[in-house]
Amino acid sequence: MEKLNQKMTADVLQSDYAEKKIVFGEGKQNAKICMIGEAPGGDEEKQGRPFVGKAGKNLSSFLETIGLKREEIYITNVVKFRPTNVSPKTGNFVNRPPKKPEIDFFLPYLKKELEIIQPDMIVTLGNVPLKAVTGDDSASIGDMHGIMTTTKDGYKLFPLYHPAAIIYNRGLSEVYQNDLQVLKQYV
Ligand code: URA
Repeated sequence: MEKLNQKMTADVLQSDYAEKKIVFGEGKQNAKICMIGEAPGGDEEKQGRPFVGKAGKNLSSFLETIGLKREEIYITNVVKFRPTNVSPKTGNFVNRPPKKPEIDFFLPYLKKELEIIQPDMIVTLGNVPLKAVTGDDSASIGDMHGIMTTTKDGYKLFPLYHPAAIIYNRGLSEVYQNDLQVLKQYV
């Protein structure tokens, strides 16, 4: 994994994203479960670790629900830097969803990460990693959440809503809890 991360760093430095700080995946190298998010946010960029901000708190509590510890899994993102816009109001950086070229740039590294970890199961968090892992742009979390499927590469895949979606849409909370109960049966 270290070699892969070194290669990714070198490639990013040669790219349009050279100014960006990279946040690598982290966790158990032979983990049975690999969780994949969208891209780091501000806290993740600051600390250089995935899922340490608000979404990370939600992630930790959902891991507790299914009886897992963060150290037992591998956690990564599709895009390895924080996608930002500059707010016209404040002039500060604000998060934005990753763009297609950014996703395409990082997809080969995600695939390599999965080859190294060889997880029994992938849990995607939100639409971006779901589309990336299935290679299907029409795949939708609204249709696929909470249902175990298999990817073309042969990984078991359990799509979940992004933990941050619960922050913005309280109505999803019950759906999310139900999905977690289903996931719990597989871990
Ligand atoms: N949201 C993500 O998708 N990934 C992170 O690392 C943090 C928040």
